[in-house]
Amino acid sequence: MLDQAVQGSITFDGRLGQLDRRGRALRDLRISVTDRCNFRCPYCMPGDVFGRDYQFLPRDEILSYEEIHRLAEVFVGLGVQKLRITGGEPTVRRGLPSLIAMLAPLRTPENEPVDLALTTNGSALRHLARPLADAGLRRVTVSLDSLDDQVFRRMNGVDFPVAKVLDGIDAAVEAGLGPVKINVVLKRAENDGGIVQLARWAREAGHILRFIEYMDVGTTNGWRLDDVVPAAEVVETIAREWPLEPLDAGYRGEVAERWRYVDGRGEIGVIASVTQPFCGDCTRARLSAEGKLYTCLFSAIGHDLRAPLRGGVTDDQLAGLVAGIWAGRDDRYSERRAAATERLPKIEMFALGG
Ligand code: GTP
Ligand code: 5AD
Ligand code: SF4
Ligand code: SF4
Repeated sequence: MLDQAVQGSITFDGRLGQLDRRGRALRDLRISVTDRCNFRCPYCMPGDVFGRDYQFLPRDEILSYEEIHRLAEVFVGLGVQKLRITGGEPTVRRGLPSLIAMLAPLRTPENEPVDLALTTNGSALRHLARPLADAGLRRVTVSLDSLDDQVFRRMNGVDFPVAKVLDGIDAAVEAGLGPVKINVVLKRAENDGGIVQLARWAREAGHILRFIEYMDVGTTNGWRLDDVVPAAEVVETIAREWPLEPLDAGYRGEVAERWRYVDGRGEIGVIASVTQPFCGDCTRARLSAEGKLYTCLFSAIGHDLRAPLRGGVTDDQLAGLVAGIWAGRDDRYSERRAAATERLPKIEMFALGG
């Protein structure tokens, strides 16, 4: 059965497209535009490891916006419906609105516009939200781990004030990018005391709040299972204040499990990648800033697309290459995590943008 899936040809009848070895289609592409970030969140880029001397990718090793556009077009031709721009922190790369303007007109083989989104730490949204929206961005997800200024300053590792991110979120709403999704990574004894405060704020402001279980991505954050706040606990904590009821997934393969407030004041999501892995439905591919394709957030190696791209291959050849990589995909790291006895080498989260 699965072997047949490997041979699945690229047909859009019935919207299948190329399937991987576990029968999963390729639907989302997360594009990292830089490995740099102006924050040093300890769970992602701990400041003592990523200090002044750390060598980020040099300019010529990073895909140009033209190269990203060309690859994105190839992926959309293969069935990708959602493009999410990530980093590092995507807004630290100059001219981001011009990339958005290049990607926004892309359409799927069924002539639907692609779902174009951005994940950001929100620090630059006050001045960028409007140009991004004008360039065709449809929605934005902001990472915000706490509303408490002291906790937030500690968790971003660079003493950045929470008020500036909140102002950036307001700017996004003013620019028509709302409702904004807010991603909170919870770490035990760091910010789990702020769950209800965040929920109250998001309910009142009309943002969609999502809590992410702290994951063992990369090799530098010193992850321990004890640091994870299980999604079920988050739901219980909030439901004690405002009763919640489960919602169906917004689409097949959605990573967040959704809950709505019984009083009708919005919804929350929990992303339980540790306690309830969702590999079975995982339709995501990730493109690093240097043009490597990763078929899992926890992959150790990526497939280089930059060399063929710069070596003059045709779009059809690129499509064949990507389809072949996807056909061979067998990843399900989060489902295997519990059974893993050895620590495998992994890519760092900031290189893939989550
Ligand atoms: P939308 O539903 O389109 O808004 O996007 P999304 O749910 O993919 O949201 P987002 O990109 O903000 O993802 C939220 C977080 O979930 C990421 O930053 C990751 O931390 C985590 N996540 C997303 N995709 C995966 C995945 O494939 N595997 C694992 N283990 N975690 C993921
Ligand atoms: N575990 C869970 N989420 C993480 N993110 C970064 N590192 C981790 C981790 N170790 C999240 C960020 C952001 C998204 C891109 O990934 O907070 O919301
Ligand atoms: Fe930067 Fe986001 Fe990583 Fe924090 S989680 S260091 S904001 S890339
Ligand atoms: Fe997909 Fe890998 Fe995450 Fe599983 S661990 S959901 S295969 S990215």
